[in-house]
Amino acid sequence: MKALVTGGCGFIGSHAVRALVTDGWQVVNLDALTYASNPANLADLADTSAYTFVQGSICDAALVERHIPGCDLVINFAAETHVDRSLLEPASFVRTDVEGVVCLLEVLRGHPGTAFVHMSTDEVFGSLPEPLRATEDTPFAPGSPYSASKAAAELQLRAYAQTYGMPITVLRSCNIYGPNQHIEKFIPLFATRALAGDQLPLYGDGLQEREWLFIDDFVSALRTVIRAFPATPGVSAYHVGSDDRRTNVSVARTICELSERPFDLIQPVEDRPGHDRRYALDCSRLRAMGWAPRVSFEDGLARTVAWYRDQQDHWRAAESAGFAEYMQRQYASRLDAR
Ligand code: DAU
Repeated sequence: MKALVTGGCGFIGSHAVRALVTDGWQVVNLDALTYASNPANLADLADTSAYTFVQGSICDAALVERHIPGCDLVINFAAETHVDRSLLEPASFVRTDVEGVVCLLEVLRGHPGTAFVHMSTDEVFGSLPEPLRATEDTPFAPGSPYSASKAAAELQLRAYAQTYGMPITVLRSCNIYGPNQHIEKFIPLFATRALAGDQLPLYGDGLQEREWLFIDDFVSALRTVIRAFPATPGVSAYHVGSDDRRTNVSVARTICELSERPFDLIQPVEDRPGHDRRYALDCSRLRAMGWAPRVSFEDGLARTVAWYRDQQDHWRAAESAGFAEYMQRQYASRLDAR
């Protein structure tokens, strides 16, 4: 069995590639090596004959076309994923997250035997007040340029599935965390800064809620879905969540405890514009297939903070000059205003 995985040098993609290779797949990893990619995430596979790395973009149709023949499966993790950056540079999100997906679909419709799994997000539903949880049929109401681009991609998937009878699987996940995640994201940002004794910039009142899932549990969800193939024509969506929602301030406090730092490192700062308050997923469909998360948030967060403490060389390999500039742009005035 052979799979083309896009974005395999990123956080979720790297864990998925390793799992597929472990399960006996031949894997081609197509990754553009943007700022969020870290080749160190898959350095251990470099000498594995079942693994091939190709540098390139999902927007390059000729390149994608070259690598699809012989593939049973394409999994798309390639994306711009950071909400804060989508406020600073929205066009790159439309380019990769929408145009890139259309490019993949255009190539894939010439290969009807190749299944397609696309990574989406709970953010396509926008903020949901308590006690609502989104089912696979809840209408989209994206609230950021990032989530609008992911919702737009999903509309394209539906259109291609309806027009060409393509079998397409969509995974809509809650917030995933764990080793290999780029340190721009909340948990790794706060963990690395807390360990260094730096201030933790908490947006707004910190009472926004996110649903947290450890990366290993996401990988087991992916395996569950792949095991259920062949997919039928049309879009089959699956929600991947933990039902474990926490306020940001409570997560920040737990990170302080795990890093043995005082809570006063936490600095309330100017909020993210348009900040969604709460996401929540109903995962009954996937659970009915036998999947359930196994890692508690306490255990997963402790493992994650320990990884960032012990693997500095690994995650620092993804820190570019551009990252320092981004940090300055995103946080300098927020933290100076204190
Ligand atoms: O829900 C799934 C989504 O989770 C994925 O689709 C996105 O790709 C992923 O980036 C993530 O989006 P969020 O906006 O929820 O994640 P982020 O890590 O940026 O922020 C998590 C929460 O923490 C959010 O409420 C904003 C807050 N936050 C974040 C940062 C970076 C802060 O308070 N301060 C910060 O400096």
